[in-house]
Amino acid sequence: MLNLLVTNATLPDGRTGMSIAVQDGLIAEVTEGLDAPAHEKLDAEGLLLAPHFVDPHFHMDATLSYGLPRVNESGTLLEGIALWGELKPLLTADALIERALAYCDWAVAKGLLAIRTHVDTSDASLLAVDALLEVKRQVAPYIDLQLVAFPQDGVLRSQGGVENLTRALDKGVDVVGGIPHFERTMADGAASVKLLCELAAERGKLVDMHCDESDDPLSRHIETLAFEAQRLGLQGRVTGSHCTSMHSMDNYYVSKLLPLIAQSGVAVIANPLINITLQGRHDTYPKRRGMTRVPELVAAGVNVAFGHDCVMDPWYGMGSGDMLEVAHMGLHVAQMTSQAGIRQCFEAVTTNAARVMHLERYGIEPGCDASFVLLQARDPVEAIRLRATRLKVFRKGQLLAETPAATAALHLPGRAPSSSWMIPKA
Ligand code: FE2
Repeated sequence: MLNLLVTNATLPDGRTGMSIAVQDGLIAEVTEGLDAPAHEKLDAEGLLLAPHFVDPHFHMDATLSYGLPRVNESGTLLEGIALWGELKPLLTADALIERALAYCDWAVAKGLLAIRTHVDTSDASLLAVDALLEVKRQVAPYIDLQLVAFPQDGVLRSQGGVENLTRALDKGVDVVGGIPHFERTMADGAASVKLLCELAAERGKLVDMHCDESDDPLSRHIETLAFEAQRLGLQGRVTGSHCTSMHSMDNYYVSKLLPLIAQSGVAVIANPLINITLQGRHDTYPKRRGMTRVPELVAAGVNVAFGHDCVMDPWYGMGSGDMLEVAHMGLHVAQMTSQAGIRQCFEAVTTNAARVMHLERYGIEPGCDASFVLLQARDPVEAIRLRATRLKVFRKGQLLAETPAATAALHLPGRAPSSSWMIPKA
């Protein structure tokens, strides 16, 4: 007998009336109209069953610290970094762990079951690293947490930067990070990319660097990152995060850059909520949007994912762990309003992000983990439009979270009471 049988589900690829059979935490079968004995049955009633959401770019060491010790008044990246510097000496492991665990609860409720978080390695105590390794251990039964060693103050710019980052890797941090545009000079930035990629190659680690997070069209560290990925044979293992300077780059240069990124197998992560608020701050009008060139990267064959980046921290006072909100902003900023474009934005917070993190057994296919979300929407387009309610969240066949359907009870003059959840009749 099956553990779980979901019937009458719509899948993100458009297949309808699908049954998903679950045995021992894995998807045993995906087929149309299957009925079989099962301990638990769930009628999806034609709604969308999608693989769980994935956030490939987050900062869990800073999350939910908004207002500590003060609020970022200018709203700029640089005041955020300065504010984080003020907060760091006040951090305690216990408080950091408590905030991170609270965020992970929010994430599960929103069907977000895999998160890649950067963790600041600039401080020699590595307090945040130890705290997030503890969080990773505690949430392992319900969230795949991947850690990136992130030298926020610059691996070359800060004293002991390389040593601290290396020690973080020794402690078990999964991915090598970097911040080349924050090093003192362009030359130092390029040197940091080379050094960090070599370190990753030596240790068999993935790479994910904050790369060119500025409006400076001459910030071109993504070029060095792509070159190093090719030189060191790291194709498919390297990610450039943010890459906002590409928004402002010369078009001819970009026409040469995109094929290089594609050939090097470097993935790109845009963080729409954060890019749209932090970039363009030195502009009067017109103000640049500051997000990287998502449709052009996709067209060039680059794997593009969207990250949340921040939730209620020194850089951003909004957010709730909702990757549909991220996709919603992404499609607006990138003007990806075609049906295909909207679907690509859904993939940017699901399958594409899972590829960035090298997640195994991800998807709604036989042999994959039975880790999926039933949404109160009939397809990915509707899911993004409504930031749809996550009716049920499963991980490896186990129910982790349920949310009642969003329905408004209407009491309209001259009409019988009715209800609406904002989906047009099929
Ligand atoms: Fe970031």
